Amino acid sequence: MPRLLHVIGSPRGVLSRSGLVATAYLDALRAHRPDVEVDTLDLWREELPPLDEAAVAAKMAVTRGGNPDPAQRVAWDAVLAVVARFRTADRYLFTVPMWNGGIPYRVKHYVDLVMQPGLLFTLDRATGYAGLLRNKRATVIYSTGIHAPGLPPAFGADYHATYFDWWLRETGVAEIDTIRLPPTGPGPDLEPVLARAREMARR
Ligand SMILES: Cc1cc2nc3c(=O)[nH]c(=O)nc-3n(C[C@H](O)[C@H](O)[C@H](O)COP(=O)(O)O)c2cc1C
Repeated sequence: MPRLLHVIGSPRGVLSRSGLVATAYLDALRAHRPDVEVDTLDLWREELPPLDEAAVAAKMAVTRGGNPDPAQRVAWDAVLAVVARFRTADRYLFTVPMWNGGIPYRVKHYVDLVMQPGLLFTLDRATGYAGLLRNKRATVIYSTGIHAPGLPPAFGADYHATYFDWWLRETGVAEIDTIRLPPTGPGPDLEPVLARAREMARR
């Protein structure tokens, strides 16, 4: 059974704007592709392992072709479980709000956890990095309060969609469908904007 990994990057639960659009996507998916299993990873409600001294030491050992020691192994196995859940998914759906020009820290934590050498990418000193994932497709729903592409710099900078799209491509995910919500902050009525985004997600 194909599996879609739905990674929730907003802590706002049912109030999340990106989450509303993701719900439209998932409702349409369930109607048209009941064979697809949806695996929900809510980054704000599930505790992920820390990238602490033991986990980073294990990563360094593995990167250099060595073996983690027993204490590091425990930390590393917890990281590997998160990586496996990501790698074995067939499709991805992410909701990623902009926080201070970038992505929320729990989303960055997830990126740092799953992005492991030999599992998601390789590094060749002569040719550089290469992603290892194949035949994967991602849909990413980006939300902001104020920022939008093309606005003057006083309205913020985008280290958000640019960063996250870049990271996904680094893993080898070649097909990325992006839904950018127009700014959801104070301004014109949001409902028509959200309705359009939900329709895009359904399509
Ligand atoms: C901690 C925090 C930082 C934020 N920083 C920005 C920002 O730099 N630029 C911006 O346009 N909106 C910013 N916002 C607003 C959110 O991006 C906006 O409310 C978005 O619609 C939230 O999506 P969600 O409802 O799916 O959580 C920030 C919100 C929070 C909570």
